[in-house]
Amino acid sequence: MSLPSSMTYIAADSAGGPEVLKPATGPLPVPKSDEVLIRVLAAGVNRPDVAQRAGSYPPPPGASPVIGLEVAGEVAATGAELTQWKPGDKVCALTNGGGYAEYCAVPAPQCLPWPRGYDAIRAAALPETYFTVWANLFQAAGRLHRGEAALIHGGTSGIGVTALQLAREFGATTYATAGSDEKCAACRRFGAVAAINYRTQDFVEEIRRLTDGRGVDVVLDMVGAPYMARNVRCLAMDGRLVMIAHLEGSKVDGFDFLPVMRKRLVITGSTMRPRSTAEKGAIAAELRDKVWPVLEQGRCGPVVHASFPLAQAADAHRLMESSVHIGKIMLRVAG
Ligand SMILES: NC(=O)c1ccc[n+]([C@@H]2O[C@H](COP(=O)([O-])OP(=O)(O)OC[C@H]3O[C@@H](n4cnc5c(N)ncnc54)[C@H](OP(=O)(O)O)[C@@H]3O)[C@@H](O)[C@H]2O)c1
Repeated sequence: MSLPSSMTYIAADSAGGPEVLKPATGPLPVPKSDEVLIRVLAAGVNRPDVAQRAGSYPPPPGASPVIGLEVAGEVAATGAELTQWKPGDKVCALTNGGGYAEYCAVPAPQCLPWPRGYDAIRAAALPETYFTVWANLFQAAGRLHRGEAALIHGGTSGIGVTALQLAREFGATTYATAGSDEKCAACRRFGAVAAINYRTQDFVEEIRRLTDGRGVDVVLDMVGAPYMARNVRCLAMDGRLVMIAHLEGSKVDGFDFLPVMRKRLVITGSTMRPRSTAEKGAIAAELRDKVWPVLEQGRCGPVVHASFPLAQAADAHRLMESSVHIGKIMLRVAG
């Protein structure tokens, strides 16, 4: 595949609002020996991108300064050491940054094939939420098992939709919170047995009522400080609270940890981006083994709310910050 001498990407010359996102022209990234260069056809927009643009989530050392954590496209070139992928292969990938661009270099273990029957937009909508939900809800952190119950906050976020669908597929019962009745109805379609409009209902009381006082085994939280004590109250004996974000703050005053002892709770959390290539590759391998067959059978799959041309990345961020979306917001890069 012949490569152009330059590419279009989205630059953010300073931290700020969506207006700082502007198309720019620059050199293609050069893949390292263990990386593939992907000709990007579609890229996902994720809430961490909004935080990076605003200056509160800087890329880790060595990562591309270009925003964008997931892409789908075709392999355009491979690093010297690679035999796993070849030019022309259709892949989707969890990137280390650089996704809002016509070309993106990604460590090979972080790539997966497009599930059978998928197009670029749907394939690009998978990596960030599937890696995150698998690692936090099912692997070591949450250890959600068949027959258990989970409370998923932000049930219509990209993350929330994936969590609800996968939990249903793997035999768990889910409850969700969301900010409107319309979003609550969507949560039920994605697999929640009940959805709680947190603006009009007390989710602690509702979980107590819905579980006959038992509570849930896992809470997946992205809201943070104001939910800390309330999440603990929602958990059953031996429950796990998994924190993946702190949209409303990370510092809690006056937290009483006696219930943590009394109920033998585990409070944990993680961020995906700083994990090593080996760790991300191990998650990718499990996804390919356990989740890709489910996607190919159509029992789970991305819910795409809207897509924008790459040059309109600012509008995609405005939509995300409005929080009216249900599911994923995507960028069409080529094709
Ligand atoms: N730890 C990790 O590895 C990791 C990886 C990826 C994403 N994340 C985090 O997971 C969360 C979801 O990501 P996403 O890309 O799926 O986001 P998203 O689609 O933009 O969804 C976020 C949703 O959260 C709800 N929300 C509740 N409180 C909010 C607040 N104070 N500000 C904004 N939204 C609020 C909103 O829905 P309502 O109307 O229902 O309130 C909003 O639509 C984000 O916080 C993100 O940073 C963490």
